[in-house]
Amino acid sequence: MKAGASLETKYINLKEKIDNEKIKEASQDILNGKLVLFPTETVYGIGANALDEKACENIFKAKGRAQDNPLIVHVSNLEMIKQIVEEPNELEKKLIKAFCPGPFTIILKAKDIIPRSVTAGLDTVGIRMPSNEIAHKLIEYANVPIAAPSANISGRPSGTNIDDIINEFNGKVASIIDAGAVDIGVESTVVRVINEKVRILRPGKITKEDIENLGVEVEVDKNILGKYDGKEKVMSPGMKYRHYAPNTKCMMIYSKDEEKMIDKIKETANGKNVLIICKDKNYDKYNCKNIIKMGNTLEEIAHNIFSILRKVDKYNVDLVIIEGMQKDGLGLALNNRLLRACEYNYIEI
Ligand code: TXA
Ligand code: MG
Repeated sequence: MKAGASLETKYINLKEKIDNEKIKEASQDILNGKLVLFPTETVYGIGANALDEKACENIFKAKGRAQDNPLIVHVSNLEMIKQIVEEPNELEKKLIKAFCPGPFTIILKAKDIIPRSVTAGLDTVGIRMPSNEIAHKLIEYANVPIAAPSANISGRPSGTNIDDIINEFNGKVASIIDAGAVDIGVESTVVRVINEKVRILRPGKITKEDIENLGVEVEVDKNILGKYDGKEKVMSPGMKYRHYAPNTKCMMIYSKDEEKMIDKIKETANGKNVLIICKDKNYDKYNCKNIIKMGNTLEEIAHNIFSILRKVDKYNVDLVIIEGMQKDGLGLALNNRLLRACEYNYIEI
């Protein structure tokens, strides 16, 4: 057991094959007020019974999470949604019908049954119905909604495989369900309906374009690509906090013209002790000692990026330079996470 940790953590290996009995055991931990680390299709979550105030307080302790940053609540069916939120309006129902289950979180008006430690005192709560089979079964067997933020110490990139986060949570949770690397790799799209429009508060795999295809108006919150200025009230508390940034200084360089981008990165790297994070297809174009490939497509980059960000401090370089990417589709989510990892140190030419 890890120093400072107080629990014997059960390790449940479901990498090769799903074992319902093992998931049932973990659902008992949830019902006993304990924490369970479990996979979803987006990132790993650290979950507790969303109706158990004390258990949810322990999530904040385990993550070192700010008390004013609310948790999202995971459900396995529509009945559970009814139990915890007021009746959604027509547009909200349309979104639920289109994107649940899936990598999608919708902010709705919370009923009093949801404890304050989950909502952080807001009158709303984020609802998400994961499509991942293990997450779905865990909720279904427990038969209670599960509050779960991403599994990472606050400020660090979200955990996308157990190897990256086991040291952060061993001894702090009752069980860890290991299902290998998650599918998507970035957290769910968070939306809220405001004045008959859908506002994206956090971009994800369900894109602005996917939502627009329903024939509805979509706005992207200005804090998604802009830096929070500390003045106005944010629509989503998570936007205020430092997130994803390694200790090493990072910057992102982008041009729609790939050759121009590569030249600018080479020029910036010249004579410096740097690490370059680039698309696989550009790997041979850099003559750099430290280089990490992140995939070629937006999907591949999403899948790999958090694990890569967790590795960069090991390189002992002065600067990390990341190739930028398009801002539409899944690229909006990647730009949102990477801009924060770079603390908005961004050049576009
Ligand atoms: O994919 C995901 O959403 C993962 C997996 C585990 O489901 N969960 C996740 O949770 O990313 P978390 O807590 O790391 O991020 C939830 C975000 C935070 O930025 C939080 O501030 C915001 O959603 N949020 C939660 N409740 C909210 C509310 N009532 N109003 C506005 N924003 C809210
Ligand atoms: Mg998080």
